[in-house]
Amino acid sequence: MSEPKGILPVPAIEFRGVYKRWGETEVIRGISFAIEKGQVVVVCGPSGSGKSTLARLINRLDTLSDGEILINGAPTSGFTGRRLQKLREGIGFVFQHFNLYGHLTARENITLAPRKLLGLSSAEANARADALLERVGLGGKADLKPAQLSGGQQQRVAIARALAMQPEIILFDEPTSALDPEMIGEVLAVMQEIARSGTTMVVVTHEMGFAREIADRVLFLDGGRVLADTAPEDFFDNQKHPRIQRFLAQLLSPAQSREVEEADA
Ligand SMILES: Nc1ncnc2c1ncn2[C@@H]1O[C@H](COP(=O)(O)OP(=O)(O)O)[C@@H](O)[C@H]1O
Ligand SMILES: [Mg+2]
Repeated sequence: MSEPKGILPVPAIEFRGVYKRWGETEVIRGISFAIEKGQVVVVCGPSGSGKSTLARLINRLDTLSDGEILINGAPTSGFTGRRLQKLREGIGFVFQHFNLYGHLTARENITLAPRKLLGLSSAEANARADALLERVGLGGKADLKPAQLSGGQQQRVAIARALAMQPEIILFDEPTSALDPEMIGEVLAVMQEIARSGTTMVVVTHEMGFAREIADRVLFLDGGRVLADTAPEDFFDNQKHPRIQRFLAQLLSPAQSREVEEADA
């Protein structure tokens, strides 16, 4: 809109013809898209469609087989050593199963990386951790260990841990899938607040309420390909693709569509 002519903003994340193969199996099959800075993109699709792999390729938890992923306009596939570490420091990752260190307190889980990788003093790292615990609604829980926290609280600690590195991008891989239903809302509320703060987010999730309210775009993966990449309104209210219609129907009413499938069989 008000961008000067000829100067396009550099995307935060850009996939150019990305492939990932595990041996003979092609799990990401020529994916291209760009995510602008500050955008929130929800990635959904059936189990095994490549959602986790797509997220893991972005911060190089997995290595791509072909193509290129650019972060802030810079190709990253050649990165090794210190440059790869720097790349990873700028991209937070929140896992389905939290992946907290069980022998460390909430505060210690959060301060570990800032102390080791950013060289923060204990006092600086502790102050940052306590402010973040406050931000995710866990002000009084700094000295508790993961086993003393509920799943929703553990996931909020994991989000605080990611935020502690002050990343420009945060990747979430099914952050609420391992939670009891009553804890999903508290985690989504924290993610919503982060989205509003302008952080670029890629969120693998089947929480369609979150997708509809928070996402700038919804990307649907099927068999390692992008089947749809649209605004949430189009995705939910104007969905033309039968494959995605079926997927959405099943999410909204799993029991009912199971009955239909069984009746079909
Ligand atoms: N480390 C691995 N080795 C071999 N195959 C893998 C590995 N990780 C994932 N895959 C395969 O890649 C495909 C996509 O997996 P994944 O990205 O985890 O899908 P999703 O997150 O959508 O369920 C699946 O068929 C899975 O079995
Ligand atoms: Mg997955």
